[in-house]
Amino acid sequence: MSDQVRIVEVGPRDGLQNENTPISVEARVGFIESLLGAGLTTIEVGAFVSPKAIPQMQGSAEVLRGVQHLAGEFHVLVPNEKGYEAARAAGAKVIAVFASASEGFSRANINCSVADSIERFKPVIERAQADGIKVRGYVSCVLGCPYDGAVDPQAVVDVATTLWDLGCTEVSLGDTIGVGTPKKVRELLRACAEAVPMQSLAMHFHDTYGQALANLYAGLEEGARVIDSAAGGLGGCPYAPGATGNVATEDVVYLLEGLGVATGVDLDKLVTASNAVGALLGRAPPSRVAAAISAK
Ligand code: HMG
Ligand code: MG
Repeated sequence: MSDQVRIVEVGPRDGLQNENTPISVEARVGFIESLLGAGLTTIEVGAFVSPKAIPQMQGSAEVLRGVQHLAGEFHVLVPNEKGYEAARAAGAKVIAVFASASEGFSRANINCSVADSIERFKPVIERAQADGIKVRGYVSCVLGCPYDGAVDPQAVVDVATTLWDLGCTEVSLGDTIGVGTPKKVRELLRACAEAVPMQSLAMHFHDTYGQALANLYAGLEEGARVIDSAAGGLGGCPYAPGATGNVATEDVVYLLEGLGVATGVDLDKLVTASNAVGALLGRAPPSRVAAAISAK
């Protein structure tokens, strides 16, 4: 497995959005700087969402402005036109809209049906395209929903296809509650790749049941080449009760390097970055690789 794999580091957004301890704008900028210093190049740095829904992401405009002069590709979440305007004003060059394959999560997370969310995204995507801003599309709950239970793979394919047809340049498949297993991941990727090219599908797996690395390996074997992960394995979504963090970037890097896939990431520097945020949060990051390296 010698092809290149692109890592989308989501720690400063997904990793921090569910934490009770507020992390200042300065600390978030410092975290992003240290992730860049460790060799990560694509980083989701914030979210232009309602501060009532996710107070942790307040200050995302300042965070984005604080890192924009640095070399890297910075993503921010945008749920609607209000968020789009704020993201554009802060100089965003890549935004991510986020839909769900299940109705229950859509309602809890963004307070509307799946179909209505797509209607909200249409003007956002059109305006972004006119402004030369790239749009990524998320589909949440691709392997299970905390409210609706099992999710029909066809529902995932439908939402992924819609986002792709609307002009998203990449579609990220979110196992929001980390319930997937490799067989289901393979089947889902194959089904989605009928409509969205495999190289434009990202794997965004939370590690709640400890399956994320196995799922990623299965996805890599299927030909998927984009992985979303969070430094230290931080993360979760307040609207996905019980779900734990994203797969840890350290664990992904260790796996990829072992497969002969160069990542350009310095693991020691990455662990230092994760531990620094862990210290602010008052706990060690859950990553196994980070723990092993820290114990040396
Ligand atoms: P709503 O209440 O239906 O929206 O929320 P509304 O349009 O009726 O507005 C209500 C209030 O929010 C108003 O303020 C608006 O101005 C304000 P008020 O008049 O009450 O003072 N508002 C905003 N403020 C700032 N930025 C905005 C914005 N929009 C409205 N963009 C809404 C709908 C979508 C806004 C809300 O539900 C929301 O912000 N949800 C975001 C939830 C979220 O961020 N979840 C976590 C990210 S998704 C995730 O983690 C999954 C992912 O990782 C993939 C995976 O793991 O599966 C991506
Ligand atoms: Mg997520």
